[in-house]
Amino acid sequence: MKSFAIVAAMDEARGIGKADGLAWHLPSDLRRFKEITSAVSDPSKRNALLMGRKTWESLPAHFCPLPGRLNVVLTRQEDLGLPEGVLRFSNLDQAMEYLDKEPDIEHIFCIGGAQMYAHAVEHSACNRIFATHLQGKFDCDSFFPIMPSRFRPAATGPWQREENQTYRFIDYTCC
Ligand SMILES: NC(=O)c1ccc[n+]([C@@H]2O[C@H](COP(=O)([O-])OP(=O)(O)OC[C@H]3O[C@@H](n4cnc5c(N)ncnc54)[C@H](OP(=O)(O)O)[C@@H]3O)[C@@H](O)[C@H]2O)c1
Repeated sequence: MKSFAIVAAMDEARGIGKADGLAWHLPSDLRRFKEITSAVSDPSKRNALLMGRKTWESLPAHFCPLPGRLNVVLTRQEDLGLPEGVLRFSNLDQAMEYLDKEPDIEHIFCIGGAQMYAHAVEHSACNRIFATHLQGKFDCDSFFPIMPSRFRPAATGPWQREENQTYRFIDYTCC
């Protein structure tokens, strides 16, 4: 089976969001998200983004679906209306089974939110986590799960500052 990576930004308490939205505005994190999730080595292919229904509904209208990538929404609602070209699955295994057979999909990313991450970190096909760590606590109401010990930092970026926030990127891989 193809593997997949998680992309997530979290604060010191593993907070990832507040009131169904993000708790911060960090443009360099948004740029990194776009770069990581859009990059393909074969230009005839594209990447797939797996997301929970609430994260899908939180996307800004002009980025919904997220362009240039196959958007895949997980929901248990069989009648959830989605735009043409956006796929719906009722669980992660079904989505992975489908994407595994899709020759035009190069990489698969799980992009949140909290419920999706909780399933994804425990999934045997999840082998990488692209994390953005923000200093401080942002009064979040949704959280990244405790990272299983099989994930270890493979590349740790320097602390950086933007818009009064201090953050760094860490790429975790699976031992
Ligand atoms: N900081 C970050 O990197 C980041 C990234 C993404 C999102 N977020 C934040 O995360 C928050 C949303 O997280 P959330 O946990 O409330 O929502 P979520 O995970 O985005 O969506 C939850 C919904 O997705 C469906 N779902 C999730 N896992 C599923 C599974 N394994 N199988 C089937 N369906 C599944 C269910 O939909 P139904 O109820 O329709 O069945 C569930 O109610 C927001 O604040 C958002 O801004 C942060």
